Amino acid sequence: MKGIILSGGAGTRLYPLTKVTSKQLLPIYNKPMIFYPLEKLLEAGIKEILIIVAPDHCGDYMKVLGSGKEFGPGVRFTYEIQDKPVGLAHAYIMAENFLDDGDSSAMILGDNLFDYDFTSAIQNFKSGGMVFAKEVPDPERFGVVKLDENNKAIKIVEKPKEFLSNLALTGMYLFDHRAVEIAKNVQASERGEIEITDIQNWYLQKGELNVEVLDGNWIDAGTFESYYRANQWAYDKEHKN
Ligand code: DAU
Repeated sequence: MKGIILSGGAGTRLYPLTKVTSKQLLPIYNKPMIFYPLEKLLEAGIKEILIIVAPDHCGDYMKVLGSGKEFGPGVRFTYEIQDKPVGLAHAYIMAENFLDDGDSSAMILGDNLFDYDFTSAIQNFKSGGMVFAKEVPDPERFGVVKLDENNKAIKIVEKPKEFLSNLALTGMYLFDHRAVEIAKNVQASERGEIEITDIQNWYLQKGELNVEVLDGNWIDAGTFESYYRANQWAYDKEHKN
């Protein structure tokens, strides 16, 4: 299994903090934000990682993260520049060469912070798709999944206008190699993006999508309020003893 960190975008919701830097390089307590999702991939034993960044900040990412070797033996980073933030599913099109040996991938968003340890999900993954849900008070901000009584996904909607469920889909995605071809056939949504939920729905319709409901905290640090909370969470983790 290879890793992908999607770390582009304009970060306009955090202006003016993101006027001269990328959101995912902003500090969360004592580390750049991207270290947290990166550590989740490393913790699960992933060593080959594609980091997708926006053109304005690619040099900064290379300075901060380097080749990967500082993060452990055999760790290797590859970088791709995403010219425009056209949607999360676009990451799989950009990853086509990186995944050309037919490998599965674990993609994590560069602004998503988790307590959860994905090691067992990643190491036991065989094929299809796997996504991770978390109950939230404001599901309209996220991709949302409705589960049946056996925890099987029955419906997934990106930022639902009408209530579907309280289970948000977090920014960690395990897909087999078919995700690249699926992404190429996704049409832009009303908001002009090629949506990750379309890839999830493809696997759902095939009956090949598993959903795990997460324990612990999950923070999408993309707003001032959640960015502030993320700093508190990171501080508390460091000082828990
Ligand atoms: O955080 C989880 C949510 O992330 C999911 O529940 C949603 O299904 C998913 O669409 C996404 O929603 P957001 O509204 O949070 O997406 P956003 O546009 O903020 O992008 C998420 C991160 O990915 C952000 O840090 C920027 C980066 N990004 C985004 C796009 C659209 C890219 O690097 N490239 C892109 O093309």
